[in-house]
Amino acid sequence: MADAQWWQHAVGYEIYPQSFFDSNHDGVGDLPGIQTKISYLTSLGVDFVWLSAFYPSGQVDSGYDVTDYRGIDPQYGTLADFTALVTAFHAANIKVVIDLALNHTSSQHPWFQAAVQDPASPYHDYYVWRPATATTVPNNWESIFGGSAWTYVPAVDAAYLHTFAEDQPDLNWENSAVRREMAATIQWWADRGIDGVRLDGVTHLKKRQDFANVGHPRMDYYQDVAGTDVFLAALKPVLTRNQLFVIGEAGGIDMPTAQRWLDPQQGFFDLLLEFDHVHFWEKAEPKLPVAALRATLSKWQFGLEKSGGWNALFIENHDLPRAVSYYGNATDYRRRSAKALALWYLLMKGTPFIYQGQELGLPNAGFTQISQYRDLDSRLYYQQQRAAGVPAKQVLAQLAMGSRDNARTPMPWTHQQYGGFSDHEPWIQLAPGTDQINVERESHDPHSVLTFYQQLIRLKKSVPALEQGRYELIDTRDDQLYVYRRTLNGDNWLVVVNMSNQVATTQEFDLTTSELIFTNTEVDADSDDLEIHPWEARLYHLRKLE
Ligand code: NOJ
Repeated sequence: MADAQWWQHAVGYEIYPQSFFDSNHDGVGDLPGIQTKISYLTSLGVDFVWLSAFYPSGQVDSGYDVTDYRGIDPQYGTLADFTALVTAFHAANIKVVIDLALNHTSSQHPWFQAAVQDPASPYHDYYVWRPATATTVPNNWESIFGGSAWTYVPAVDAAYLHTFAEDQPDLNWENSAVRREMAATIQWWADRGIDGVRLDGVTHLKKRQDFANVGHPRMDYYQDVAGTDVFLAALKPVLTRNQLFVIGEAGGIDMPTAQRWLDPQQGFFDLLLEFDHVHFWEKAEPKLPVAALRATLSKWQFGLEKSGGWNALFIENHDLPRAVSYYGNATDYRRRSAKALALWYLLMKGTPFIYQGQELGLPNAGFTQISQYRDLDSRLYYQQQRAAGVPAKQVLAQLAMGSRDNARTPMPWTHQQYGGFSDHEPWIQLAPGTDQINVERESHDPHSVLTFYQQLIRLKKSVPALEQGRYELIDTRDDQLYVYRRTLNGDNWLVVVNMSNQVATTQEFDLTTSELIFTNTEVDADSDDLEIHPWEARLYHLRKLE
C-alpha cells in the first residue's frame, strides 16, 4: 500500500521555470528544459518538485496573474510538454506539485473582462466591487505592492479590490461559484497526473465584510479574518478524492489556525509555508538575531509537535533574497555559511524544501541599477520611494538586499556564457560568481555546497531520529549559537551551529560522550572542542543521553 504520508520522508525542490533551463534558445527557461535536468534532481535526492506558476499570464507578476487556469504559458511550452514532464518525473520517482494562485486572476482573464464589460454577467460577482468615484476609494485598504487596494473602473462606476497589483483583481471567495471553479480547476490538473498543489496566498482569501477602514491598511483587511475554513472546506473533497499532497502558502498565520488547518483528520493541508523566521531581514538588522530565530523556529516545532501537525522547512523561495546573503555571510564565509545554514534548517523536524540554486550557495543578484530589475514589486517600490524623495542610492541598496529578483537569476549549470542556462541572453542577468558557482564544477568538488547538500539529504533520510525524532532546543542564551537535539527511542543527535562571524564557546552541552558525524569545516574538528568557529556546523551522535 502506498504511504499516505510519503511527504514526511521527502525532500522538496522548488523550480522557478523562467530561470531553470532554457531548451529553445530564447533566454527564458521552459518545461522541456526542466525535463532535461531530472537526473540532476535525482542525484540531489529530491522526492518532489514544486513548479512555480507556469500558466498563461499577463506576466505582470511573473505568472501569478493568471489568464487561463487550464493551460501553459507559451513561453514555457505546451500542455503536451507538461504531460511529458510529469511522465518523466514519475519515471524518476519524483512527484509533481503545481502552484495555484487562487486569490486573484489577471485583469486580462476572461472572467474579469466579462465582469467589466457587463455588470449583469455572472462573472461580475466573481470579483470584489465597492461603490467609488474616480477620486474617492471605498476605504483605506492598501495593496501589498503599495498604493490603494482599489481601482475605479469608469465603465462599471465602481472600484475592484486587488490585494496585490492593479492587474491582479481579487476573486470573491464569498461567491460559491468561484469556489466551484477552483475545485474544478484542481480536478482538471489531477486528471493530468499531478501529485499535489501549492495553494498560493491562502491567508488572503477571506476579507473583512464590513469594508471598514483598518488600523494596518496593508494587512488588517485579510489577516486573521475568521471564515477562511468555509472556503477551504469547498476544496477539500477534490483534494481528498485525488489524494493530493496539499501545501498552503500561509503568510501571517497564527498557531491555533495552523494547528487546525494541519490536523491530520479535520484539517485542509499537509504542510503550511509560514514566514515568521524570514521576516526579520526586512528590518535590516546589522546582525542575525539568533536568539529571536531560536524562539521563532522552536515555537513552530513545539506547536506542531503538540497538535500532530508537520513542519515545512525552508530558508529560500522565489519571493525571498538568497539565504547565504541574508542569513549567512556571502562575503567572507560564503561556502561555509551556506553549508551551516543547510545543516541548521534541514535537520529540524519537518519536510525540507530547497529552492533552485540554494544548493549551490548562490548569493544575491548584486544588481546596482534599477534597469537590471524585472520584478514588479521591486520596480514599484523604487518608484514609490523615489517619489517620496528617498535617494536612488539608498533605494538601490535596499533592493540589493531584499528584492525578489535576488532569487530569480538563472540557474548556473556550467562556467560557460550565461551559466549554461541558455545560449541566448537571459531575461534577467546572472548572479555574480557563476564561473565558480555552478552545477558542473560543484558536482566534481567534494567540498562544494552541492556535495554537502547531497550528503546531508542522504544522512537525514537514513537516520529515523533525524526524520521523525522529537526536536529539543538547547538554549545557549547567546546570540551566536543555534543548538538542538533530535531524539527517537533513545537515539540522540545534536546539531550545533555557530550563526555568527565570531568564535563561540559554550558550556551548555557536553560533547565528551559524542561522536562527530558530519561537519562543514574542511579540517575535521576535534569532537569535544567547545570552540565553535564562525559559521561552523556540527552534527553529533550522542552515545548516551545524560
Ligand atoms: C505569492 C507568490 O509566491 C508571489 O510570487 C506572488 O507575487 C504573490 N503570491 C501574489 O500572487
